Amino acid sequence: MFGPGGTALITGASSGLGEVFARQLAARGYGLILVARRRDRLDKLAVELARSSKVQVEPLAADLASEQGLAGVEARIRQAATLNLLVNNAGFGARGRFWEADPEEQQRMHRLHVMATLRLTQAALGGMVARGRGGIINVSSVAGFGAGPGSASYSATKAWMNTFTEAIALELRSAGSPVRVQALCPGFTYTEFHDVLGMDRGVIPKGWWMPAEYVVAQSLRGLDRGRLFVIPGFRYKLLVLAMSYIPRKLKHAGTRIYARRTRRV
Ligand SMILES: NC(=O)c1ccc[n+]([C@@H]2O[C@H](COP(=O)([O-])OP(=O)(O)OC[C@H]3O[C@@H](n4cnc5c(N)ncnc54)[C@H](OP(=O)(O)O)[C@@H]3O)[C@@H](O)[C@H]2O)c1
Repeated sequence: MFGPGGTALITGASSGLGEVFARQLAARGYGLILVARRRDRLDKLAVELARSSKVQVEPLAADLASEQGLAGVEARIRQAATLNLLVNNAGFGARGRFWEADPEEQQRMHRLHVMATLRLTQAALGGMVARGRGGIINVSSVAGFGAGPGSASYSATKAWMNTFTEAIALELRSAGSPVRVQALCPGFTYTEFHDVLGMDRGVIPKGWWMPAEYVVAQSLRGLDRGRLFVIPGFRYKLLVLAMSYIPRKLKHAGTRIYARRTRRV
């Protein structure tokens, strides 16, 4: 079991997977620092969880794609002496061909998925390694195992998250540190993600959708067991396994069909 107690900082805690992480970690007795842009949502969740789970909850409104917002959260992490878990979860998707997409949105995605993960991980790890306890969950995606039309930046940033997490795990292992890191790689999950993206959920068969509660429970179970990659759901485990064996040509044909079906391009 992953060492309980202490504080967990969760980014993107105002909805979806982040909110469910907050609920499940509060139930495990963690004090919480909740980060996202929508302050009203964070405040409401903080009041609810402090009352129901009797834990300390601190809402921290910040835009992690901005220098000011990211620096503020980085500083908060560096002074959190009881930080036991960091969940880099804030993220969003985009559609459209790369050269036709809004450049600001594309850059914002890289700042959020890559730079925020990099800087918050570095801010947290020094203290965790020195204390000899702690863990980091980077919420990536099955999209990080492939590439498809209409999601160049999304797939690329999630692939970066996978490689980054794996390399940090190897560094921790070689240093003999018990600190754990995990890349959580979900497939389609019921959250606000596809509303923000503007994608009709009906184009994907029901069997491929997972509840956020299940995805988070799998992640925390994986953390207890020290799993580096957590891919919730047997369909997605098989898909990722197949993707590492099937020829690239076949993979590309599949992603083209998927991109048309989901109207990504
Ligand atoms: N849902 C899926 O099917 C799925 C599949 C694979 C991976 N994922 C990954 O899961 C993670 C969580 O997404 P979700 O599915 O839970 O979607 P969601 O319900 O839309 O939640 C996204 C969260 O990220 C926060 N966020 C977005 N931009 C931010 C910014 N600039 N600064 C700070 N916070 C920001 C949002 O809060 P505010 O708007 O209040 O800032 C929100 O709390 C993402 O990294 C996503 O890529 C999702």
